[in-house]
Amino acid sequence: MRKKIVAGNWKMNKTLDEALALASEIAEMAKDEVRSNATAVLCTPFPYLVPVLRVLGDGSSISVGAQNCSAHEWGAYTGETSALMLASLKARYVIIGHSERRQYFGEDGPLLAAKVDITLRAGLTPIFCCGEPLEVREKGGHQDLVGEQIAAGLFHLGDAQIRKVVIAYEPVWAIGTGKTATPDQAQEMHAFIRSQLAKKYGDATASEISILYGGSVNASNARELFSNADVDGGLVGGASLKSRDFVEIIKAAG
Ligand code: PGA
Repeated sequence: MRKKIVAGNWKMNKTLDEALALASEIAEMAKDEVRSNATAVLCTPFPYLVPVLRVLGDGSSISVGAQNCSAHEWGAYTGETSALMLASLKARYVIIGHSERRQYFGEDGPLLAAKVDITLRAGLTPIFCCGEPLEVREKGGHQDLVGEQIAAGLFHLGDAQIRKVVIAYEPVWAIGTGKTATPDQAQEMHAFIRSQLAKKYGDATASEISILYGGSVNASNARELFSNADVDGGLVGGASLKSRDFVEIIKAAG
C-alpha cells in the first residue's frame, strides 16, 4: 500500500524562534488530536533542521526534510549542503526540483536526475516536483511537459529505486496564488503520471508510488483534493506556516 503524506514546505520563511514555535505547536496538536494514517513532514530551511528535530524529539511521528541538496557527494562546493550531511542529522526527506528551483536557479533535467540519485544513495526520500506553467496548460501541453519532467528526472532509476521516490505534482499557476487546481484537474494529472510510471515500470510498481498534489492546498480544500483516487496527500507551502491549518490538512489526508 502506498503511503499518504503531507509535507510542509516552509520555503525561506521564519526566524529561528518562530520556526521552533511553529514546530512545537504542530507537534503538540499532532500528539493530541491527529488520528491520521498520513505521514507528516516538515521541510524546513537548512539551519532549522537540527533545532526542529530537537523540538520534535526522538520517536516523533513527524519527519523532517530539506528543500534542496547538492548534486555532489562531498568536497569543494562552497555554500552547498550534501544529502549525506542531511542523512547524518536525521532528516528523512528532500524536496527535489521544486518549480522555484527550476525557475530561479535554472535546475532541470540531468542536474535533478543527479540530485535524485544522490538523495537515494544517502538513504533519503526525494520528493520530486513536476508541474506546468500557466501558458503551457492554456495551450494544452501540460501532460507532455510533466511527462518529460518525470522522464528526465526519474526514468533512469531501476524498479527498486523508483519505489522509494515520492512525486509531487505542483502546477506552477497554483503555487502561492490561491488558485488551486480543481479536484478533477488534479486527479487527471495524477492518473496521467501514474500511467506513465506504469508504462515504464509496470502496474504493480506504479501503484506503490505516492503522488502528492501541491499548489494552494489549504484547510478547506484539502479533503476534497485528497479524496481523489490518485492523490496521495499534499505538498503544502503557505498553509504549512500556520500550525492549526497544517494539522487540519494532515487530518484531511488520513
Ligand atoms: P503553496 O505552495 O501551498 O503556498 O501554493 C506549495 C509549494 O510551493 O510547494
